[in-house]
Amino acid sequence: MALDFTGKEDYQKDFDPRAHLDIQYTPEGALVTGGYLSFMLKNLFTTFASGAIRGDTLIDIGSGASIYQFLSACEFFREIIASDYSDRCLQELEKWLKKVRGTFDWSSTVKFVCELEGDREKWTEKEERVRTTVTRLLKCDVTKSNPLEPLTLPQADCLLSFLCLQSACMDPESFCSALRNITSLLKPGGYLVTGGVLGASRYKVGQKVFSNIVLEKDFLESAICDAGYVVERLDVLPRVDMTALHVTDFKASFFLVARKQTVVK
Ligand SMILES: C[S@@+](CC[C@H](N)C(=O)[O-])C[C@H]1O[C@@H](n2cnc3c(N)ncnc32)[C@H](O)[C@@H]1O
Repeated sequence: MALDFTGKEDYQKDFDPRAHLDIQYTPEGALVTGGYLSFMLKNLFTTFASGAIRGDTLIDIGSGASIYQFLSACEFFREIIASDYSDRCLQELEKWLKKVRGTFDWSSTVKFVCELEGDREKWTEKEERVRTTVTRLLKCDVTKSNPLEPLTLPQADCLLSFLCLQSACMDPESFCSALRNITSLLKPGGYLVTGGVLGASRYKVGQKVFSNIVLEKDFLESAICDAGYVVERLDVLPRVDMTALHVTDFKASFFLVARKQTVVK
């Protein structure tokens, strides 16, 4: 049965960020067993370790309460700005940043990235690095032409966004519009580093089911180009394990790096 679209108000009201982390990012979680998380971490590591993407400010769009997307980038940017529409997500993320007891345990994810970097034992330093680099948590709405309204920030050197637009948008048109909106936050010549899942229509958080627009690789690539980017890398990993199909029906994970053109055609 087709699922009704769940938009930003559903996220504000019904999205439980801690339940989301528990069902997706624990060792049994759907995004872990399905291969998504390690695929993103490896790709983020190689992307940032190449040294080509670095700078002053990085903005992450639709952060949720996640920190995995910062683990490599935090070594290459002076400041990371996290953002989300949901106040509860920002509060949960802030709790982790402030080391409040009982927050989600990201240590196995952090150790995995430290191992990629050559020293698994440095994971506590890595957590501290994330805590000092993520300096701001901002309300954001990708459906607005300035997603950070009422703030107007200088354009960033890099944008990250994982699993957000496909959750926030009702159809391909609104996806393209949201992509243009977030692109306004990026400097010409800056990089968009993004990832998500292909072929997914839904995912569960507690008892609530959230909709996704079903993304396919060809559409994604053309949407990115139409938004004024040159795609530098688009990698796809088929889902490696189907045990958590009741949580989410994704078929593959994608990781994409694109550069915003300096002159838009
Ligand atoms: C599937 S979660 C992904 C969270 C995180 N990026 C991750 O990879 O775990 C989707 C996120 O998009 C956020 N979101 C939904 N609609 C939004 C909107 N209109 N503007 C900004 N964020 C939105 C939700 O609050 C939620 O945190």
